[in-house]
Amino acid sequence: MVIAASSPWVYISDIAGHDGKEITLKGWLYNKRSSGKIRFLQIRDGTGIIQCVAAKGAVSDDIFDLSDKITQESSIIVTGKVRRDARSAGGFELDVTDLKLVHAAKDYPIAPKEHGVGFLMEQRHLWLRSSRQHAILKIRSEIIRAIREYFDSNGFVMLDAPIFTPAACEGTSTLFETKYFDQKAFLTQSGQLYMEAGAMAFGRVYCFGPTFRAEKSKTRRHLTEFWMIEPEMAYFELKEDMDLAEDFVSYVVGKVVERKKKEFELLGRDIFKLQAVQKPFPRITYDEAIRILKDKGASISWGDDFGGDEETIISQKFDRPVMIHRYPAKCKAFYMKNDPANPTLALNFDMIAPEGYGEIIGGGQREDDYDTLVKKIDEHRLPQQAFEWYLDLRRFGTVPHAGFGLGIERTVAWLCSIAHVRETIPFPRLLDKIVP
Ligand code: 4AD
Ligand code: MG
Repeated sequence: MVIAASSPWVYISDIAGHDGKEITLKGWLYNKRSSGKIRFLQIRDGTGIIQCVAAKGAVSDDIFDLSDKITQESSIIVTGKVRRDARSAGGFELDVTDLKLVHAAKDYPIAPKEHGVGFLMEQRHLWLRSSRQHAILKIRSEIIRAIREYFDSNGFVMLDAPIFTPAACEGTSTLFETKYFDQKAFLTQSGQLYMEAGAMAFGRVYCFGPTFRAEKSKTRRHLTEFWMIEPEMAYFELKEDMDLAEDFVSYVVGKVVERKKKEFELLGRDIFKLQAVQKPFPRITYDEAIRILKDKGASISWGDDFGGDEETIISQKFDRPVMIHRYPAKCKAFYMKNDPANPTLALNFDMIAPEGYGEIIGGGQREDDYDTLVKKIDEHRLPQQAFEWYLDLRRFGTVPHAGFGLGIERTVAWLCSIAHVRETIPFPRLLDKIVP
């Protein structure tokens, strides 16, 4: 629908360039307030919110009548004169001269009052219109931009990984199985194995896409569908992998904090804590992490993997992300290379975010020896036949290589300081949630 307007159409984010001029806004009614013969209309257009003032006498009776009756989330086109006003949030207001109703919304379910999260989650398709969700999702968008910027300007080739896969990457207990004509397939848990093929072809590659895990427990850190960025580098060993991860995370946090100040402020996020995220990040071994946990009285034994509680205790000791390396090989995935200095350990690392946000990165050096890898596939009871293509990478010019995966939603939760990952993705998929 093209709706003719008498004055130029401007987005609220660009309003400052039109001080004193008559312009047109196209948007929706966010909120409304009355005072005597004045109606204050909060208009949003996706780029911001501005207060529009309709005064009886200054506009025709019809328009004043419309400004009086107009309901929340009705779509409207407003024309008026831009006026600088230091008291208003965006620094400007609009003195209304004309108002057109595009569509009258009736009984919008999210009233401007407190609602429970359960209710809001059911209304997720509408909840996206609120300022808080705007701030979170704009920060998410900026995080993704900074991530891609980092890899694209550091010699990486972006290589897409498939979604339908023939085999597990991260253990068989969280696989989503689906019919694939007369075969069965699984939704990808990670693009890593494909990135290993890519690294042997291009040297440095990354993929960025949705990944799926049938997580059967309800936690504030697990989604069944989440987005992961996965770089993979040929001729990298564990140390270079960790160096890259810390350089990457400090770059992304720095850029996002610099570019999204307004959004962090709206969320009440203390960005001082994020400004501390400078390299080098502390690095501790799994053994040292176990000692920290035991000192704090946690009931953990050597050989256990860490869960959210353990990660929170460890993160509290540091003001920036901490990298824990060399976990017991038996609690980790089949593709990890064992430490030649102590083969019970894997050459892997996890990066744990500060402030109790838990693991944001998992990665490490991959097993590059054909015979050892075949043995590991067998030990993990995986069907070797499904991994024949992957074993080819060890048959034809195998080299040391490493990579990692960063979960976008946990990164958003940490940077925005929100307790649960459900608000960090436009349409979350959880154990009990697939609508809308
Ligand atoms: O530690 P994970 O399982 O590692 C891998 O998938 C490797 N194949 C990555 C690689 O080396 N290329 O997952 C990596 C990250 C976690 O640190 C976490 O941030 C996120 O993915 N993640 C989840 N985020 C939300 N919900 C879930 N269920 C997640 N599972 C993992
Ligand atoms: Mg992990």
